[in-house]
Amino acid sequence: MEIGTTLTRFLLEEERKHPGASGAFTELLTDITLVGKLISREVNKAGLAKILGLTGETNVQGEAVQKLDEMANATVLKHVEHTGRVAALASEEMEKIYHVPEGYPRGNYVLVFDPLDGSSNIDVNVAIGTIFAVYRRKSDGPSADLADFLQPGREQVCAGYVIYGSSTMLVYTTRNAGVHGFTLDPTVGEFLLSHENIRIPAKGKIYSANEANAPNWDEGTRRYVESRKGEKGTSARYVGTLVADFHRNLLKGGIFLYPGDRKNPSGKLRLLYEASPMAMIVENAGGRASTGRERILDIVPTELHQRVPLAIGSAEDVAAYEACLKGQ
Ligand code: AHG
Ligand code: MN
Ligand code: MN
Repeated sequence: MEIGTTLTRFLLEEERKHPGASGAFTELLTDITLVGKLISREVNKAGLAKILGLTGETNVQGEAVQKLDEMANATVLKHVEHTGRVAALASEEMEKIYHVPEGYPRGNYVLVFDPLDGSSNIDVNVAIGTIFAVYRRKSDGPSADLADFLQPGREQVCAGYVIYGSSTMLVYTTRNAGVHGFTLDPTVGEFLLSHENIRIPAKGKIYSANEANAPNWDEGTRRYVESRKGEKGTSARYVGTLVADFHRNLLKGGIFLYPGDRKNPSGKLRLLYEASPMAMIVENAGGRASTGRERILDIVPTELHQRVPLAIGSAEDVAAYEACLKGQ
């Protein structure tokens, strides 16, 4: 489609390819688009609006909660709970699943999200993001239940993120389809098609990992990262916001690593809100996502807030990392 096509039109044309579609899914994505614009607006003026800094609380993961984390979480709930398109939501910032309140209709989807990714970068004006994924409800009782959320990532109907960077962009994919990127034109408040059918290079020149953790990494991870040093053209790039590190590597080629280590055997990133959505995006762009030992999209979660080691990016780079873990 033509560059500059609105996201709304793009979604409508996609929907027409599925004559049986109810439209609920397109509408849900449209709601998420609005949420992206609202959070983008708050992020852009955060320094003025006194919403920088900590709330003084810690979340279910034991991490300090930023005011913007809370604002972003509340924004998603407010604009999605009443629409009748989802039955329940789960977020990195909420301990339990959030049922659509009484009085609102309940839909056939559930939404999982990381309202603000890259919390440590909020106060210093570095790119942050929002990650989301949609699953079809499995249970058929009056309310959704935990089982609706504990589905492997390959069951995601849709996954995407919004990056609040030098411009705001929304990138999304649906199952077995392409990955498309839209840039927010702030003068008209619309996301416009800027990156259609993104393909990640098979091999990249970038590796991204928090090397301060290297002393605690396993032997294979250490060997892999060492092997990249001094390679012609290779660079290290690490923002500390998964959305930003992922987005750069998606466009330029590269590998992002957040392995398990001696202190945290499952690493840091969360399967439902971070690893699985990014895994579907990268696979649909021709890349790969694994723990180093198994495909992320095949992992059946056992807990909402489960963490998982993550190696994600260019297919050949992830394969080389997996080979290193096997001792090759
Ligand atoms: P969140 O802000 O949602 O808690 O996620 C932060 C994550 C992720 O965005 C990033 O890749 C990673 O934490 C960085 O971790 P380190 O600071 O340990 O490198
Ligand atoms: Mn995050
Ligand atoms: Mn977060």
